[in-house]
Amino acid sequence: MRRAVFEALPCKVRVFSAASELVAALADALEDHLRQRLTLQTPKPLGLATGRTMEPVYQQLLARLLDWSETDLQQLQRGWLSFNLDEYVGLAVNDPRTFHAYMRRQLGDALDLSLDRLRVPDGQARDPQAAASCYGDQLKQAGGLGLQLLGLGGNGHVGFNEPPCGPQTICRVVSLTMATREQNAATFYGNPKDVPAQAITVGLREILAADQIHLVVTGASKAGILEALLMSTCSADLPASWLRSHSNLHLWVDGAAIASFSKALM
Ligand code: GLP
Repeated sequence: MRRAVFEALPCKVRVFSAASELVAALADALEDHLRQRLTLQTPKPLGLATGRTMEPVYQQLLARLLDWSETDLQQLQRGWLSFNLDEYVGLAVNDPRTFHAYMRRQLGDALDLSLDRLRVPDGQARDPQAAASCYGDQLKQAGGLGLQLLGLGGNGHVGFNEPPCGPQTICRVVSLTMATREQNAATFYGNPKDVPAQAITVGLREILAADQIHLVVTGASKAGILEALLMSTCSADLPASWLRSHSNLHLWVDGAAIASFSKALM
C-alpha cells in the first residue's frame, strides 16, 4: 500500500539518508538555477522561504555563490529578484525575529542585495492588508514565481497558509494557529504567546502558479505531517496537499522525515 502511494506520487521525490546530503544536493540545484537565470532575458523571481529547514540550505548556497568570479557575482546581484513567502505582522522594524532580518542574515548582507531585490512583505505597514495586496500585485507585475522553495509547517501549512486553506487564496493577512505559534516559539524565548498572532503570506494560488516548486522536509519532527501529506488527497485541511496538483513539484526529504515510509519500502 505504502509503496504504491509512494510510487504514484505526482512529483519527483529525492530521498537522502542524511539532511547534510540533501542540503548539499539542493544547494547545487539552486546554484545551477541561478546560473541559468543569468542567461535569461526576463527571468522570473525566486520564491524564498524562511524557517530552520532553510538555514543550512542558504548557508551552503551562499558559500557556493561567494566562490563565483567577481563578474558573475556582480551579474547575479544586478539580476537578483526574490519574493519571500511571508512575514509576521507587528514586530518592530529592527526586530531580529522578522523574516526580513532573517533574510538579511542568511543571504542579503553577504551578497549585498538591495531591499528592492530581496523582497519580504511589509509586516510593519499601518494597513497590513493593503501591504499584502500591494505585495501580491508586485509579484504579479514581476511575472509570477519561477522557482519556489518551500518548507512544511507542522500542521501542513506552506508559507503561512494555515488550515483550512483552499487553492485560490492570494497574498493576504492571516491569523496564525496556536500550533504554528508553538512551532515558531523557539525564536521568542519559547513563549508561543509572544509569537505574533498575525502574518502576511503569499497565497496558494500564487504558489501553485510557480514554474517549479521544491518542498523540503527534514527531521523526525516532520515525519507525521509528511506521512499525512503522502497519503492525502488535495484537501483544505492540509494546505500543502494542494501542491500535489502541481505539474513540476520536487519533494526533497531526509531519512528522518520519511522513516516510516522507508521502513515499509525495505
Ligand atoms: C514557518 C514558515 C514557513 C516555514 C515553515 C517550516 O512557520 N512560515 O515558511 O517553511 O513554517 O518551518 P521550519 O523550517 O522552521 O520547520
